[in-house]
Amino acid sequence: MSLLKRKKKDESPEGSGEAEAVAKPTKGERMGQAKDLSVHHGTQGAIDVAGWVDSRVNATGIFTAMMSRHVPKGTNWFYTLGSATMFIFAMQAITGVFLSMYYTPSATQAYASITHLTNDVFMGEFVRGMHKWGASLMIILIFLHMARTFFFGAYKYPRELNWVIGVVLLILTTVMGLTGYLLPFDQRSFWATIVANNITASGPVVGPYLADFLRAGPDFSATTLSRFYALHMMVVPGLMAALIGAHLFFVVKLGTTAPPWVRAPRPKGARPSESVTAGVASEDLEEVPVNGAAAAAVTEADPPVDEANAAEAEAVEATEAEETESATATEEPAAEAATEEAEEEPPTDGEVSS
Ligand code: HEM
Repeated sequence: MSLLKRKKKDESPEGSGEAEAVAKPTKGERMGQAKDLSVHHGTQGAIDVAGWVDSRVNATGIFTAMMSRHVPKGTNWFYTLGSATMFIFAMQAITGVFLSMYYTPSATQAYASITHLTNDVFMGEFVRGMHKWGASLMIILIFLHMARTFFFGAYKYPRELNWVIGVVLLILTTVMGLTGYLLPFDQRSFWATIVANNITASGPVVGPYLADFLRAGPDFSATTLSRFYALHMMVVPGLMAALIGAHLFFVVKLGTTAPPWVRAPRPKGARPSESVTAGVASEDLEEVPVNGAAAAAVTEADPPVDEANAAEAEAVEATEAEETESATATEEPAAEAATEEAEEEPPTDGEVSS
């Protein structure tokens, strides 16, 4: 009922007047209120459950730490390559689960099950195609991501461990490619895997043992397929998921590296020797470059780093000699004094904070 009609009804002599109209909502209004309340209760219930879980696992804290990080100035599209690799890994996991619903890891049935999946199953060919192309794409992306971290100097202190984890991830990604290639068990995958296994056997020291392990016996057989299947389905993806977790933990903990061309502000009161890490010894510079770009920034006016260190070491030596009047103090090598100075320096890494 429209408001106009209601007003007229309330004003009519039969009606009970304005007070009743205010107190008594119409049926439509009551239904609307009930709907609002149920929506409110439903939402409130979901919020309560989420809050209960959150207060126990601190999901909000973890999410905030992951997603609301400060990133260095100059962060660009190259920094998305790691996430792109991770996205493909997730896609491979999802499409792989669907493929495994139809795949039979048996030497006699594997090929037939793949043919059935491709020709008869709804979207089977599409999902298989995604998985197959995804494998190649992941290899390309992982190499691009590695190149980014290499050329930006992100493998240096304190991120060496993350680089090592990355190398293991790279090896595991190629193992995924190798083990997955055999699974269709057609002529090409069969003979290509034999070649790959022979190449593995020719490797130094561990090569023959590794090839034996992969073959699961002296000959290439049905057991080889089972072994490849187990590695491809469970062992390697499990390891990769755990390592990606550790990799991301370090990314969040340490922050990402600034691009090499971005200059970090010079710390207040920094002495000339404190800029040695960045390879710049000039007192005139307002900013010092980070990472590998440092060398390029040294101008002709700047004294070479070695000279600056040597001069400072000489000054230290002279003071020590005066204080102690000991002959040994003057014999202390300048390089050693300079090294000690350099070791005290903190790493300069842009605006990283997390
Ligand atoms: C499954 C494979 C991998 C995934 C999912 C992955 C994921 C990521 C992500 C999301 C980041 C942060 C964003 C970025 O800088 O792109 C990152 C950073 C990093 N990754 Fe990877 N990565 C993988 C493989 C590798 C490999 C093969 C290497 C090197 C051998 C590597 C070395 C690094 C390093 C050193 C960083 C720190 C970058 C920085 O501080 O600027 N990662 N990774």
